[in-house]
Amino acid sequence: MSELRFDGQVVVVTGAGGGLGRAYALFFGSRGASVVVNDLGGSFKGEGTSTKAADVVVDEIKAAGGKAVANYDSVTDGEKIIETAIKNYGRIDVLLNNAGILRDISFKNMKDQDWDLIMAVHVKGSYKCARAAWPYFRKQKYGRVINTASAAGLFGSFGQCNYSAAKLAMVGFTETLAKEGAKYNIHANVIAPIAASRMTETVMPPDILANLKPDWVVPLVAVLVHKSSEENGAIFEVGGGHMAKLRWERSRGLLLKADDSYTPGAILKKWDQINNFENAEHPTGVADFMGLLEQSMKMRPNDKGETLDFKGKVALVT
Ligand code: NAI
Repeated sequence: MSELRFDGQVVVVTGAGGGLGRAYALFFGSRGASVVVNDLGGSFKGEGTSTKAADVVVDEIKAAGGKAVANYDSVTDGEKIIETAIKNYGRIDVLLNNAGILRDISFKNMKDQDWDLIMAVHVKGSYKCARAAWPYFRKQKYGRVINTASAAGLFGSFGQCNYSAAKLAMVGFTETLAKEGAKYNIHANVIAPIAASRMTETVMPPDILANLKPDWVVPLVAVLVHKSSEENGAIFEVGGGHMAKLRWERSRGLLLKADDSYTPGAILKKWDQINNFENAEHPTGVADFMGLLEQSMKMRPNDKGETLDFKGKVALVT
């Protein structure tokens, strides 16, 4: 099998001074891409700045014969990062929104600053970078975006209320970019990675971390951002050599007639039905809910005694 190449492409990796970002940057640098190595160079809590983190990775890529340039701006100034790509290489093809920090603290003790900083780096930072890249993607009718969520966002995680909220935001953000980008061949996917890094080294034992190399997250990301990939709007968990796709599941649910019988008691009586995932559906868009609403509207006459269907037709309730 021939190797997946990225010759002539420009890949921007945010937070590429360490951990997963560094692994992405080195990989794309070794596969023909010109890489913008962005890193603010602060602590994992988002304190301080340094040019060293990005410089070291740029040097590594160049020493291996690749092309790379450093950028030291915060992702909250995403336009400057994309500008670095345009100024140096004249284009951008792939954006890996990877930069991140942690501010773990129980919800009871959370301060506005802990919340705001996490939202700024993860949510606003990903938005700013993608927003600045978008016009280039649209114009060239090509673009690939990876946003970075987390299991903490998908499932919740003790002491990470701020981070969980920001990380699930990446899912909604990605789903919408995927829908808006599709007709311009702009694909956006989101990963919930797991890897040994300074972020995880304090929370996981060394023997587990030894089996979670950041390099093992890279191949899936490479597949997703390759020009041959059709994947768009998908959610993946990836780490330790394992990868899997996630999707929403909706129970068949319960539809009650909107008359006097529609009471909390009526819901409780059928609670099992709401919780029954037998023959569950896997919705992928708001439209998937419309069929259900249509059924529901039929059971819900307006004050003229009519029901409305979703094509705007009205019918008298018989
Ligand atoms: P890391 O701490 O090794 O790397 C993150 C990098 O982002 C650092 O080099 C840091 O300097 C940079 N950064 C932080 N704020 C920045 C800003 N405002 N602008 C530019 N760069 C900034 O962490 P790791 O583990 O490599 O994390 C990468 C991404 O993966 C993050 O978004 C993280 O939340 C996510 N993630 C990681 C998991 C893991 O198991 N390592 C689990 C789930 C999600």
